[in-house]
Amino acid sequence: MPRSCGKIILFGEHSVVYGKPAIAVPVKEVFTEAIVEPSPVFKIVSDFELKDNENVLLKNAIDVILFELGIKNTDFLIRINSTLPVGRGMGSSASISISIIKALSLHIGIVKSENELNRIAYECEKVFHGTPSGIDNTVIAYEKPVHFIKGENIEFLNIKMPFTLLIAGTGKKKHGTKEIVADVRKGYEKNKEQYSAFFEEMGNIALSAKDSVTRGDIQHMGRLMDMNHEYLQKIGVSSKGLDRLVKAAKNAGALGAKLVGAGRGGNMVALVDKENKEEVRQALLHSGAVGIIETLVR
Ligand code: PMV
Repeated sequence: MPRSCGKIILFGEHSVVYGKPAIAVPVKEVFTEAIVEPSPVFKIVSDFELKDNENVLLKNAIDVILFELGIKNTDFLIRINSTLPVGRGMGSSASISISIIKALSLHIGIVKSENELNRIAYECEKVFHGTPSGIDNTVIAYEKPVHFIKGENIEFLNIKMPFTLLIAGTGKKKHGTKEIVADVRKGYEKNKEQYSAFFEEMGNIALSAKDSVTRGDIQHMGRLMDMNHEYLQKIGVSSKGLDRLVKAAKNAGALGAKLVGAGRGGNMVALVDKENKEEVRQALLHSGAVGIIETLVR
């Protein structure tokens, strides 16, 4: 079954929308998959629940894919499965889009290049998110760590020293990337000078993190993650649940911790090493974390 991975943004969510650098890594331990099966009527069948409005967005995104692939005859159903938490800052919309593009391409006997997967998935992301930066579809289409600036060439990162992350859920679905991004935009419109300074700092953090991520300087990377989380709090996208998990991870010895993705629920990430990994995991569980995913970034 054609599949694609999840992702997390290690540095620079939200500021990336304003043209600042960001770093995202694929999370291959979780994935979505899609398959096309014969059916007299067109249907979308999934093993996860979507609200009515989310179903409409998914249907619209599939229309974009059908158009891009030139498919007019829709005598099939699309079955989608996901081990990726949906709507929790792990790139589920981009991952689902890419799995569907792969499945529909297979159905008509073509293979799309990574560049094409990325391009079409970006069109789908516009349906889901309004004004996406494009970072999610990029990291998921190529399945490689990326240093990303909107509208510029993508730089893939060559990780010399693999490092381990624990990704933990608050148990609360975030409110929807589109709405949160629009809220941040309102804050920015109201207070351009302050928000511009925040975004600038978040961009500087991501830029400075690039070197530590590739060299595996986890001490420095951790400090930068903490700083990034503080700025995400300042622009109002954290939540009590996210802050509680971030604090628990830090108190248990994590090198760094921050929310990931759009925020206001969803997931956080903690950078750990061999010595503190289990302690951090236990601390997260004690603080109510759900669905902890361990990933090795390489
Ligand atoms: O929560 P997610 O996985 O949809 O990530 C959104 C990332 C943002 O930077 C908030 C938006 C974007 O388009 O980059």
